Amino acid sequence: MKRQETTETALFVSQTAEKGGAELFMLDLITHGPAGWNGGFFADGTIVQDLAAAGCKPVVLSGGSSVLTVRREASALKLVSVAGGVVTLARALARAAKDYDVVCANSQKALFVSALATRLARRPLVWVLHDIITDPAFSRNTRRAAVLFANLFAARVVANSRASAEAFVAAGGKADRVRIVYCGFDPAAHPQGDAETGAALRRRFGLKDGPVVGLFGRLTPWKGQHVLLKALRGVPDVQALIVGSAMFGQDAYEVELRQMVRTEGLEGRVCFAGFQKDVAALMAGVDIVVHTSTHAEPFGRVVVEGMLAGRPVIATSGGGVNEIVTEGEDGLLVSPDDPAALAAAISRLLADPDLAARLAAAGRISAARRFHIDKTCGDMRAVLAEVR
Ligand code: UDP
Ligand code: GLC
Repeated sequence: MKRQETTETALFVSQTAEKGGAELFMLDLITHGPAGWNGGFFADGTIVQDLAAAGCKPVVLSGGSSVLTVRREASALKLVSVAGGVVTLARALARAAKDYDVVCANSQKALFVSALATRLARRPLVWVLHDIITDPAFSRNTRRAAVLFANLFAARVVANSRASAEAFVAAGGKADRVRIVYCGFDPAAHPQGDAETGAALRRRFGLKDGPVVGLFGRLTPWKGQHVLLKALRGVPDVQALIVGSAMFGQDAYEVELRQMVRTEGLEGRVCFAGFQKDVAALMAGVDIVVHTSTHAEPFGRVVVEGMLAGRPVIATSGGGVNEIVTEGEDGLLVSPDDPAALAAAISRLLADPDLAARLAAAGRISAARRFHIDKTCGDMRAVLAEVR
């Protein structure tokens, strides 16, 4: 990892240090960006350990528990009830923020706390927006509060895709403050596999010979793991490796998925691998990487990771994914929640290895060029230079 020596400092703030896509974005950015970039968290977690292992000194603020219990669909009453916790946390963050030129809130909860903290510490605030804020999963109150806080307190809003940027503006966000910075990846950390990689993967997860489709991401209904299970009906020889765990208290869906494997008669064809740290290596061992989100994906790290692994990718159209994949050139796109279309796309790639190889090769080149971590760090530095 390369950390550039500059005098620029920035504190990226997240309420959680668990490994979701937004937090992995932050980890990559801090470990590849200027040495003065650091992470601040409202609770301890694996990202804190990874940052420390990379030589950073992440800040863990105590007293964040009440803020962490607020969900995106929260009522106004709940939002008011956590106000006290927010103030305590904001004071602690303000003390930490004094050591940095800029504070970047990496989530909506972080935005609320950082808004107050940056006023106290007299530092500029940037909001890094990882969501399509018009998605119905956000309550009207949460959406309104986030847009209001951004308009009042954030000097810039960094969106993870054009789709997230447009939704912010559609929800009343100030367009002139928005910049787009895509997630970035180090292609060297995404090796391509060979026949032995696939054989080793089959042995490790008890899969048989024959095609394996990989689906990577947390287990939650909108990530659409059920869509793949339904699609398997249409491709009888195909096995599925489902990598990821339920996060943020959404365990019921995993129970449903396991039940579905039984009711759909898919026993022996589906492996639930749980959360895995070495996603890049696993992707290199599957035949096809699929992405099945039923709602517009704000960005879709797993789509880029599949391309970098040199695997043909079938992604679900909508949101940031349409900015990543060009249908028929560097991947295939299917409509959301359409198991028949997914099954047809899987069959097409398996029946036409030349097409699969062409898409995979083009995907790796295009992902490495457009979503390189150095470009992401450069784009973020340019935004921070505007507010410093
Ligand atoms: N991921 C992981 N282990 C798993 C499942 C997922 O490390 O078992 C990673 C995956 O490689 C990706 C991130 O989690 O980098 C998920 O990001 P994405 O943008 O696809 O979705 P999000 O969960 O942020 O909505
Ligand atoms: C969020 C989004 C995901 C995006 C990630 C990183 O978790 O759900 O689509 O890739 O942030 O920006």
